[in-house]
Amino acid sequence: MDKNRVASITSDLIDAVRDVCIKHAVTHTEYRAAIDFVSRAIDAGERSLLFDAFLEANVVASDPTKITGTTSQVLGPFYLPDMPFLKDGVMARENELGERLRVSGKVLNCRSEPVGGVELDFWQADASGRYSHFDGGATPDKNLRGRIASDETGDFFLETVKPAQYTIPDQGPTGLLLREMGRHSWRPAHLHVIARHSDYSTLTTQIYFEGDEYLESDAVRAASTDLAFPLIYDGDQTILSFNLVLQDIDSTN
Ligand code: BEZ
Ligand code: FE
Repeated sequence: MDKNRVASITSDLIDAVRDVCIKHAVTHTEYRAAIDFVSRAIDAGERSLLFDAFLEANVVASDPTKITGTTSQVLGPFYLPDMPFLKDGVMARENELGERLRVSGKVLNCRSEPVGGVELDFWQADASGRYSHFDGGATPDKNLRGRIASDETGDFFLETVKPAQYTIPDQGPTGLLLREMGRHSWRPAHLHVIARHSDYSTLTTQIYFEGDEYLESDAVRAASTDLAFPLIYDGDQTILSFNLVLQDIDSTN
């Protein structure tokens, strides 16, 4: 990380904390309690959860790609790298419980030109709100995770199941803090996706469902209604359709 940025961001952060301490007359005891709280959360294995739940949405809010491309979203603590490439876009096992969902769309650039060869790295909760690898082995390894690519016309296709709304892990320090703040721990249902292509800025985002009751009160304050799309029912098929718009590398860096 650039040294000048380290210096200026850290100084501003300390000044912002100083303003909060003065505004609320924060005591030494409260200051020590805050340090103990963060340590407890880390000891409980909630390092990523704590920071992603309370702070990552702030980083996303400052992302310049949202000016023209698809809005960025938090990565969150449940991403795993190097997941398999999916055959014919099929991400859900045949016997996966839940409503079967056919996801399709196009990857475009900011000039509305289709972009082929974009790697789309998807992961999601299952129909019970569980993420594989983070559910104590309740679901199979790598379940509902995988990569596809857009074709030469920018089109992509994924077959999955509709993810459930879920509560972020709320039995430890992170959940306790949410409750003390009077907030619930629910997230609206969503698909996570990272779009990668060497000519464009990497996009990390989430796709939501129109009408979800938690869009406006997301526990992690990330959800954005411009990323909520309607489900279309066609015979016995449930279809979700959206485009992803990538930002040129040189316009953001
Ligand atoms: C998630 O969507 O997976 C997530 C994001 C931030 C905190 C917890 C979970
Ligand atoms: Fe999630």
